[in-house]
Amino acid sequence: MPCDCVAVEGRAPHQNGCKKSANGAAAASHHPHRKTYDEETEGAEERHVNDLRYPDGSVRLRNPHIELMDQDILYHLALGSGSHDLVEMFGDVKFVCMGGTPKRMEQFAHTIMAEIGHKLPCGTTLQDISQFSYRYSMYKVGPVLSVSHGMGIPSVGILLHELIKLMYHARVREPVFFRIGTCGGVGYEGGTVVISEEAVDGSLKNALDVNVLGNTISRPAKLDKRLVRELRGLADPEDPYDTVTGKTMCTYDFYEGQGRLDGAFCEFNESDKMEYLERIHKAGVVNIEMESLAFAALTHHAGIKAAVVCVTLLDRLKGDQVLAPKEVLDEWQQRPTKLVCRYIKRYLQMKGRLSLDGHGSIAVKSPRRFKLVQQESETYD
Ligand code: URA
Repeated sequence: MPCDCVAVEGRAPHQNGCKKSANGAAAASHHPHRKTYDEETEGAEERHVNDLRYPDGSVRLRNPHIELMDQDILYHLALGSGSHDLVEMFGDVKFVCMGGTPKRMEQFAHTIMAEIGHKLPCGTTLQDISQFSYRYSMYKVGPVLSVSHGMGIPSVGILLHELIKLMYHARVREPVFFRIGTCGGVGYEGGTVVISEEAVDGSLKNALDVNVLGNTISRPAKLDKRLVRELRGLADPEDPYDTVTGKTMCTYDFYEGQGRLDGAFCEFNESDKMEYLERIHKAGVVNIEMESLAFAALTHHAGIKAAVVCVTLLDRLKGDQVLAPKEVLDEWQQRPTKLVCRYIKRYLQMKGRLSLDGHGSIAVKSPRRFKLVQQESETYD
């Protein structure tokens, strides 16, 4: 199997803890206490991530030009290293959560605020930090950033370049990125939560092809295996829906690219479509969406742990159109959020950083009196 070991600045490939020796044999295979495949790959992932960070765990940029620049303007976020004190503003970030729409990510910010008991100073509200970019929305709730990424690979790719640079400028240590989204299931009913094990393109290739200066660079679209396992372990058996893991296919289009018959154009028939969907299903694909390839490839390239958690809106083996009513879709979209909230909460709990005494900017002393005062105010003319 080819190794995807990357050359780290100043070091040759295969010297960064990669088990592949010069003759291509896996060194571990001769060891009497051979590790399991999962331990091997997780160990390699850990080394990959560590090699790409500064010793204190902060994000190292794989671009020598940035530190030579007078200032770095993060244009699509309406932030800059010369104009903003990014360490002061973002230095305490641990989790960066992304999803398609500004509204959904504003809601996520409110949900996580209640879940982790983060209090805003009295009389203040959450503010969209990137409102003047008119591109993406960004909210900060203590150690959590909630950012909208728009639709498709180019949109999430541009955002990731700037978020990874933001992590670097703010000296954020060991950040974890999540994409919370929607998808089409392949063999799974609408409402199923899918945690991606890896991302593949429309031809099942586990890499993002980027055209740079007229040449194609392939970046492995890998996700953190341990994170997948931890998230899977947080699925509650009482949840009234399934939470599954598998390969996620990421396409450049919602219609023809995902084998739909209902786009403005279509040059294939139902049986061609079903043959393709059955084939990718057999290859381990459990869902299809439009961002995971860039999300996995760019976070992996930056040495940032990342996970993709989506909810299926329909089973593509049964149809093309999203037919569930809006209220149902709204409830389904809460499901990936719940799982990611559980993960963040558990992490902060372990670090002793969770404060659940009240939430939001209001501290309630007596719920009975609080209710009376509220009712009184509402009826006051
Ligand atoms: N998002 C997608 O990309 N495809 C679907 O089928 C549903 C949501």
